[in-house]
Amino acid sequence: MRALNVPAAGEQPRLSDLPVPGAVEGTVLVRVKAAGLNALDNALAAGMMAEMLPHVYPLVLGRDAAGIVEAVGAGADHVAVGDEVIGHMLLAPPIQAGTLAEYALLPAAAVTHKPAGLDFTTAAALPLAAAAAKAAVDAIEPEPGQTVLVVGAGGGVGSYAVQLLAARGVTVVATGTADDTDRLTTLGATTVIDYTAGPVAEQVAAAYPDGVDALIDLVAYTPDSAPLDVVRKGGKVASTLGAAADEQALAAVGLTGTSVMAAPLREVVAQLADQAAAGTLKVDVTTVLPLEKATDGLATLASGTARGKIVIEIGD
Ligand SMILES: NC(=O)c1ccc[n+]([C@@H]2O[C@H](COP(=O)([O-])OP(=O)(O)OC[C@H]3O[C@@H](n4cnc5c(N)ncnc54)[C@H](OP(=O)(O)O)[C@@H]3O)[C@@H](O)[C@H]2O)c1
Repeated sequence: MRALNVPAAGEQPRLSDLPVPGAVEGTVLVRVKAAGLNALDNALAAGMMAEMLPHVYPLVLGRDAAGIVEAVGAGADHVAVGDEVIGHMLLAPPIQAGTLAEYALLPAAAVTHKPAGLDFTTAAALPLAAAAAKAAVDAIEPEPGQTVLVVGAGGGVGSYAVQLLAARGVTVVATGTADDTDRLTTLGATTVIDYTAGPVAEQVAAAYPDGVDALIDLVAYTPDSAPLDVVRKGGKVASTLGAAADEQALAAVGLTGTSVMAAPLREVVAQLADQAAAGTLKVDVTTVLPLEKATDGLATLASGTARGKIVIEIGD
């Protein structure tokens, strides 16, 4: 099968032929029709998590997929050969199999039926980013009428988070560049703060002098690089990176936080897919590329300028 893989530690990803894996207990072999890209793909390609999780090479990139069940391992009886599914390669050792390939061997716990109303390309954009957005939103327990700042709203996770917050009756303050204002407003943002025009904290403080109730930060690696000053005392912070990792640093400014670790298990993704199929959650696929151009998509993600989701279409 053709697969985008890192042949050995430290090498650049390349497209080459690899053997099709066989379905083993607790797995589902999926013929991949589309694979959504995530920032995590670049981190794994660069070996950034190799100290935490053993990597086995050649390492196939990609975590999200939508496709057709080709084979089912023992114990994976909730799907059958020929079913159209959405799946995710959970972060479990060893890191070796991926979805940027003609076939992906996925853990059964992270494979769910694709609603008929979603095409493969749209479905492949859901698992990790939408699950992370849901986990971040759930963590701050927003109440209708509250105001929440989302930093990094323009990307994959942020585009879902803005919508999930707006659906809960929250006033969403989203960071984004000026040319992305209309898209973010359409997704549900009340105010768009151009983070390239000046410090986010200053702009938010000017627009919301009483501060915001909570912060979802998808950009900062440490609390001191997140705009904590604009969150009211007693407020909550959720981060997919390190902005909420230091409990003491947050407590010192009267806040509590959650470091989000998304687990796109099938129950979570099924619910999000139903919302997408019903039209209550927009899956904002902004770029579709063939497998031969997947590295271009990864480069866009690495540049930090991705909008919504990038999806790679595979096969016919
Ligand atoms: N812990 C977890 O479970 C988990 C799960 C998913 C993702 N993540 C991490 O969460 C982060 C976001 O994920 P993603 O998939 O949304 O990534 P993404 O698609 O690359 O989006 C990040 C977005 O942030 C915006 N941005 C860049 N620099 C910024 C800045 N200084 N201030 C404000 N916005 C800025 C950019 O949008 P514009 O320039 O277009 O506005 C960019 O598109 C990534 O680092 C990813 O690794 C973690």
